[in-house]
Amino acid sequence: ALLDTGPKPLTGRKAIVTSGPTHEPIDPVRYIANRSSGKQGHAIAGELAWLGADVTLVSGPVTIPDPKGVTVVRVERAEEMRDAVLAALPADIAVMVAAVADWRVASASGNKIKKKPGEAPPPLLLTENPDILKTVGHHPKRPKLVVGFAAETQDVAENGRSKLERKGADYIIANDVSPHTGIMGGDRNTVKVIGKSGDEDWPDMDKQAVAERLARLIASHFP
Ligand code: CTP
Ligand code: CA
Repeated sequence: ALLDTGPKPLTGRKAIVTSGPTHEPIDPVRYIANRSSGKQGHAIAGELAWLGADVTLVSGPVTIPDPKGVTVVRVERAEEMRDAVLAALPADIAVMVAAVADWRVASASGNKIKKKPGEAPPPLLLTENPDILKTVGHHPKRPKLVVGFAAETQDVAENGRSKLERKGADYIIANDVSPHTGIMGGDRNTVKVIGKSGDEDWPDMDKQAVAERLARLIASHFP
């Protein structure tokens, strides 16, 4: 890609990408979270920027470097991620790659919860987080192209397609994240691209290659 001097098809287009996990506090020192390295989302943000887009990357806590040429907004919680995404609208493209925690602790403690000798562990009451992809997919300022991911451990195609419909997305990039696949935290990904008019299986490739191919697919919608 470094030697590619062709025209940049996404010049003048604005894109929002979410990446990484969210951390939902239990108290000031503890949180619940999903597994996510941010590798796939960060690579997509970088590729969209490479194709000329003005990219806002809303990232949960990750340890990988910022991609080149993108504006990074760092957040911790799902509600903060939602607010940052909505603040970045309007946009032409939204790619929601983040592994958003589905639930947060209903009332996080302001102080560290202490163990009390002889007492049972504290129960955690959870409440549902906002669905950022669904919010964007049904928003009055909905981007022209909305892409989501679906991390599944079974019935990948069926679950992915129902997410496409429920969340108002144009594409769902579905993958099998069962532990034996090594996708979680690894550098490779095998995805099924679920679109309104059908599915396409992409071969196993590294996350950078998935990002390049997805960015080109996105760009094909902006002739
Ligand atoms: N997503 C989101 N906000 C949430 C949950 C999910 O934006 N609160 C987005 C993810 O970034 C991804 C897509 O929705 O693009 C699918 O996420 P996933 O966790 O697979 O779907 P859920 O609807 O949460 O269903 P479940 O976890 O029960 O499979
Ligand atoms: Ca989920």
